[in-house]
Amino acid sequence: MLEKEKREWVWETLNREEQKMEKFSERSAHKIPYTTRDGVHDDRSDDENIAWWTNGFWGGMMWQLYALTGKVQYRQIAEENERRLDPVLMNYNGLDHDNGFRWLPTAVADYRVTKNPQSKNRGLLAAGNLAGRYNSAGKFIRAWNDWEGNTDDHRGWAIIDCMMNLPLLYWASEETGDPRFRQIAVNHADTAAENFIRPDGSVHHIVEFDFEKGGMRKSYGGQGCGVGSSWTRGQAWGLYGFTLSYLHTKAPLYLQSAQKIADYFVTNIPENGLIPVDFCQPREVSWEDSTAAAIAACGLIELAKTEEKKEADRDYTEKEEKDRECCRGSLYIRAALRLLKTLAARRVNWNDEEDDLLTRCTAAYHDAEHEYSIIYGDYYFLEALMKLSGKELFIW
Ligand code: GLY
Repeated sequence: MLEKEKREWVWETLNREEQKMEKFSERSAHKIPYTTRDGVHDDRSDDENIAWWTNGFWGGMMWQLYALTGKVQYRQIAEENERRLDPVLMNYNGLDHDNGFRWLPTAVADYRVTKNPQSKNRGLLAAGNLAGRYNSAGKFIRAWNDWEGNTDDHRGWAIIDCMMNLPLLYWASEETGDPRFRQIAVNHADTAAENFIRPDGSVHHIVEFDFEKGGMRKSYGGQGCGVGSSWTRGQAWGLYGFTLSYLHTKAPLYLQSAQKIADYFVTNIPENGLIPVDFCQPREVSWEDSTAAAIAACGLIELAKTEEKKEADRDYTEKEEKDRECCRGSLYIRAALRLLKTLAARRVNWNDEEDDLLTRCTAAYHDAEHEYSIIYGDYYFLEALMKLSGKELFIW
């Protein structure tokens, strides 16, 4: 997929990252980090925070590093992360549409590597709960639970992020031979393809459906700057999420949907290669979200691989051979490399005395705080490099 020089860059960057991570994973071995404060990981593993939606990414990083190096330190940290999530499986309000983000990179990853039956059990419990969120009138998986002080009615809400959780359902069907999980995933993906993707290829963050009769009611700006805007991490979730549904089902609709979002994303990458929080944010606002760049890179690499496979099955004339240079697959891989190289050169903290990797990540446009380190940015940056190295443990 990559020429020699690019392969060398991938391996240099991956080795550099692993060297840093060997140190900070030891320092944070008994934590489940979300961000860093003054260069030190915080810890979301206490009773109050254990259900936090990002609590699977630390374990996922450890499984990727275990796949890369075979070092037992990484596997032990991943196993500890997985076990510590167990109380959440007994906490109805702690479970939600993000079950895939928590249990695919932990329990399911463990099961894929070790065939541990306890890990399989955890994955299936999480999948069962995710499937139980399905609204059969609207054919969507409900986002979020109602929280204290909440004034919105969330019963009809679905979000683009949920596309990344569907692989938990595809996995559950593959493991059990029971098609119900996959049927729910496919119905949700069909609804999302119809209602979230706008004509220009951008996506809504939140769509509200009629929860009794089905049908779209309205959209919300969610974590982006406003209604109709283009929250970049949402674009990246859609890009990668539809790609994953295509990989699991081979349904052309999901490939077309992923390509439409990818084309929109690639066209909107700014000159400097750094991704804003929202592609529609006002010019005078410079806030970035490095997580969107890393997640989009993962989706673009998978799309490029898909194109490469299709091309490998065809016979090319000499003229077509030349034209391949500018075909879709190479466009996607070039864009992914540009995003990753920009992050590595300008937005990765390589100081191994500090615990973060990606800097300038942002959870939501309207939050009080912007541009700090976030664990899923670190996770997807690592996953993208692992994909390019050919060593990835496929988590989704
Ligand atoms: N899934 C929530 C987020 O991307 O912030």
